[in-house]
Amino acid sequence: MIFWFSIAEKILASTAVGVIFLYENFLACVIINEIFYRGVFSMKIILTGDRPTGKLHLGHYVGSLRERVRLQNSGEFDEIYIMIADAQALTDHAGTPAKVHENILNVALDYLAVGIDPAKSTIFIQSQIPQLFELTAYYMNIVTVSRLERNPTVKSEIAQKNFETSIPAGFLCYPVSQAADITAFDANLVPVGEDQAPMLEQTREIVRKMHELYGEGILVEPEIFLPQSQVCRRLPGIDGKAKMSKTLGNCIYLSDDSATVAAKIKDMYTDPTHIKISDPGHIEGNVVFTYLDAFAEDTAKVAELKEHYQRGGLGDVAVKKYLREVLEETLEPIRRRHAQYEARPDEVMDILKEGTKKARAKASQVLNRVKRAMKIDYFNV
Ligand code: TRP
Repeated sequence: MIFWFSIAEKILASTAVGVIFLYENFLACVIINEIFYRGVFSMKIILTGDRPTGKLHLGHYVGSLRERVRLQNSGEFDEIYIMIADAQALTDHAGTPAKVHENILNVALDYLAVGIDPAKSTIFIQSQIPQLFELTAYYMNIVTVSRLERNPTVKSEIAQKNFETSIPAGFLCYPVSQAADITAFDANLVPVGEDQAPMLEQTREIVRKMHELYGEGILVEPEIFLPQSQVCRRLPGIDGKAKMSKTLGNCIYLSDDSATVAAKIKDMYTDPTHIKISDPGHIEGNVVFTYLDAFAEDTAKVAELKEHYQRGGLGDVAVKKYLREVLEETLEPIRRRHAQYEARPDEVMDILKEGTKKARAKASQVLNRVKRAMKIDYFNV
């Protein structure tokens, strides 16, 4: 009897220990999870990028690059990723890969020239991160073709490129791959130009759908970051017609030399009704004033010039001279850094190589988290 009692006691005791042990384990898991998710999701992370199809211009600068540098130097961000989106560029340049290849270095030089600091920001090449394509494949299953066809940016690009009925599938789907780019880094902030707003909207939809299907909290829902001023969001070209764009041939490039910039300012569209200096002029749609709004720090002086111009008595040549000074002040340090890095292409390639390695490690962590949630982690790797 005593024997059975002591056995029962032992079983009871060990069960109690077991329960306590299990409970402790459970508690530990909860705590670890909490720390992990709190840790991951309270981090402030930026991801952004550009397609390497040409040199960057002033529209890129005020629309996004200047903000990126400011955010980088604010010290408020835990991680910053800047991606050269060569795979996205190939979605409409499949036949001209050399053009994409050449522009990798151009875009990297422009980044470094404007002040992206590789010690603070990770610059990397999209095509070298296979995890992005894996993630894209899974997101593709939760996005409909009709939703992609409704994306306003993709729609206008399709019209512009005269694809008509021969739209490359990869091109139509690039917003999905862009969602992978953003979410693979747990980015919560994406500083881009205004034309990218539909991509962010689609990314947020994909995140919500993933949460609905595979559980809350596996991804971070990102926000767009746009410049405050409307002028900077859509800088017109020097012809004043539309936004600055390589295809329209109305750009001032960050790497343009002083004489080229001067010649472009000379050609700049002003006010066709302002014929004599004494005539009252218009500042609306006058590109010189638009650029002063975007670039000049001395806003009081710009206000004074505007007032004088509208009153009459101020000639275009004088305003253009001031714009030239303002742009030189912005572009001179950019040109200087551009030349320094251009003389050391190996160093630039090393920066990209290091950045790519770091980006790959991060994307791999996030992809593993997603695969676990989707129950496709059969071998626990
Ligand atoms: N679509 C962007 C461009 O045309 C490039 C890009 C690709 C991007 N993936 C991104 C921008 C992710 C921000 C976030 O320049």
